Amino acid sequence: MQEILSIKDLKTYFHTEDGIAKAVDGISFNLYKGESLGIVGESGCGKSVTAFSILKLLPEQTAFIEHGEIIFEGNDIVKMDKVQMRKIRGNRISMIFQEPMTSLNPAYTCGNQVTEVFKTHLGISNAEADTKAVELLKRIGVPSPEQRMKEYPHQLSGGLRQRIMIAMALACKPDILIADEPTTALDVTVQSQILELIKSIQEETGMSVMLITHDLGVVAETCSRVIVMYASKIVEEGTTDEIFYNPKHPYTKSLLKSIPRLNEELDRLPVIEGTVPSSLNYPEGCRFASRCPIAGEECTMNDPERIRISETHFASCFKIN
Ligand SMILES: Nc1ncnc2c1ncn2[C@@H]1O[C@H](COP(=O)(O)OP(=O)(O)O)[C@@H](O)[C@H]1O
Ligand SMILES: [Mg+2]
Repeated sequence: MQEILSIKDLKTYFHTEDGIAKAVDGISFNLYKGESLGIVGESGCGKSVTAFSILKLLPEQTAFIEHGEIIFEGNDIVKMDKVQMRKIRGNRISMIFQEPMTSLNPAYTCGNQVTEVFKTHLGISNAEADTKAVELLKRIGVPSPEQRMKEYPHQLSGGLRQRIMIAMALACKPDILIADEPTTALDVTVQSQILELIKSIQEETGMSVMLITHDLGVVAETCSRVIVMYASKIVEEGTTDEIFYNPKHPYTKSLLKSIPRLNEELDRLPVIEGTVPSSLNYPEGCRFASRCPIAGEECTMNDPERIRISETHFASCFKIN
């Protein structure tokens, strides 16, 4: 497996009124060519900030990369300037955002927004960009694309808007697609259509996909490898089989227990007791210790090291046997 992106000890912090928020706090992982990597974890654990760091879409006033490297084709994205980033963003690495309504511009027609991507990255004429946009929308299953191109984002359903976003993200056949909760706001049918769509485009172009989600079911269906994040760190990493059939970290185990199973009638889903510590004030030691059913004394004192379980499987926990 050849890596296309290599993240090394990345720390992305924010200045806030209440102090420094350690949104991403020393994570390392590789993304390999052609793979689908799932990034999972509860809300607030640093998934989106990881994605925004890779694309340098962090708010300039408050965010800073405190430490680390993001190596893309031998070059460190952390050190790149705006001009270099513009060549990469949308062109080599693109992103589908969590909330399509806020990331499409309400003042422009959908057609305008898709063709803009082509014009910016390929330097082609309006007419050529129009033709390409219609072709692309057709491919991703947007009905009557010529008509849709003339419409504004608010005139479309959530599912169609998300397809327009995907069209924009895929317009330049990126090497890496980062999809941040791409289907969270959508109903189940549209959700699986969109995941199928991403999969089929991936098979065709060989792009690498980083799929960020809090939905483990989506990961099981879509990804070959999984990273589990908790409180701004990676707690476990493995193939999808390893994570689902042989989870090692107590947090991963709790997450898996909280997936609803088919035919299982529960009044209420089991949730993990307790709350995630604030990124403004992480405790010493393992950050999961306060919620962990098997935590011992050392867990609240020292940072657990990353333990190798197999060539592809790692977990950071003192209690792995
Ligand atoms: N603009 C910001 N300013 C301050 N803190 C932020 C900002 N964005 C995110 N954070 C904090 O960083 C942490 C990780 O957030 P995020 O990456 O959005 O989580 P996730 O996507 O996993 O739900 C959270 O504690 C969040 O409060
Ligand atoms: Mg998020």
